[in-house]
Amino acid sequence: MTRKVHYSDLGLQNTRAMFEKAMAEKYAVPAYNFNNLEQLQAIVGGCVETRSPLILQVSGSARKYIGTSFLPHMAAGARAMADDLGSVIPIALHLDHGNSLELAKECINSGFSSVMIDASHHSFEENAELSKQVVEYAHDHDVTVEAELGVLAGIEDEVVAEKSTYTQPEEVERFLELTGVDSLAISIGTSHGAYKFKLKPGEEPPPLRFDILEEVEKRVPGLPIVLHGASSVLAEHVAMINKYGGNMDNTAGIPEEQLRRAAASAVCKVNIDSDGRLAMTATIRKVFSENPAEFDPRKYLGPAREELINMIVHKNNEVLGSGGRY
Ligand code: G3H
Ligand code: 13P
Ligand code: ZN
Repeated sequence: MTRKVHYSDLGLQNTRAMFEKAMAEKYAVPAYNFNNLEQLQAIVGGCVETRSPLILQVSGSARKYIGTSFLPHMAAGARAMADDLGSVIPIALHLDHGNSLELAKECINSGFSSVMIDASHHSFEENAELSKQVVEYAHDHDVTVEAELGVLAGIEDEVVAEKSTYTQPEEVERFLELTGVDSLAISIGTSHGAYKFKLKPGEEPPPLRFDILEEVEKRVPGLPIVLHGASSVLAEHVAMINKYGGNMDNTAGIPEEQLRRAAASAVCKVNIDSDGRLAMTATIRKVFSENPAEFDPRKYLGPAREELINMIVHKNNEVLGSGGRY
């Protein structure tokens, strides 16, 4: 049984002030997924180093993997690590792709400062109704809520969408009126996972639908927008994986220039999971390939953690523009 704890007791913050600052200063807050200690340490370390605000994300399955008894302590540990390094960066703990009111309540009662309710694969009315219920409970606890309109292709936790359905800008205002959500994930051509596009040699990924993003911004000025599925699937890490015994064929992600452009708009939160997985896997494969006798986890998880820090520093400073803000 998880003890009841409010996020403020863990030194965490909700996303409201983070998004206000990101909107005003035209950058995006990184939301990095984690499943274990080394990922968490790297994410906090990279964000402290770059003085970037941070949203720590946990999917429903990651929460199960970590264990609900550990999770609040890991988040408190993240805050303590930043404090010990003399950093004042704000840290939020966010439920990624929550699929029910029960799960949202459990998270809110166990230290999450922000939750996503993802009912985007249901009808508009069902999506709005469920999102509204989550908002009512969350706002009573000063927790912020992200919902989604439109469906991304790829895998969203246990929900698999074959094809994407772009967000319809004309639905956004009514959805906000009905629900009162604090931020909205939209579908403009990003997708989950490491295989976002199947490209022929020399082909470029199709550009994101900035026309849809601009239309949403025009209709609802000031609404913080969220981009899921925003990994770039860095060629360097895919090449390392393939060089050291892996087999990842025809991978492609969202080009960094596209993300830079999005981060300077009303996009205030950019979700990155796959790129972190690739960085760690590439490094671990390299260590094992170069030293097959190695069996001390610190000797492969340590370098993987370093590689992840480097990647996060790069993303915060060069792509999202979140570095140097605190
Ligand atoms: O969008 C989903 C995230 O990448 C989390 O995935 O359910 O494998 O933890 P997961
Ligand atoms: P990627 O698979 O592109 O990293 O997307 C992660 C995500 O959207 C988490 O919610
Ligand atoms: Zn997502």
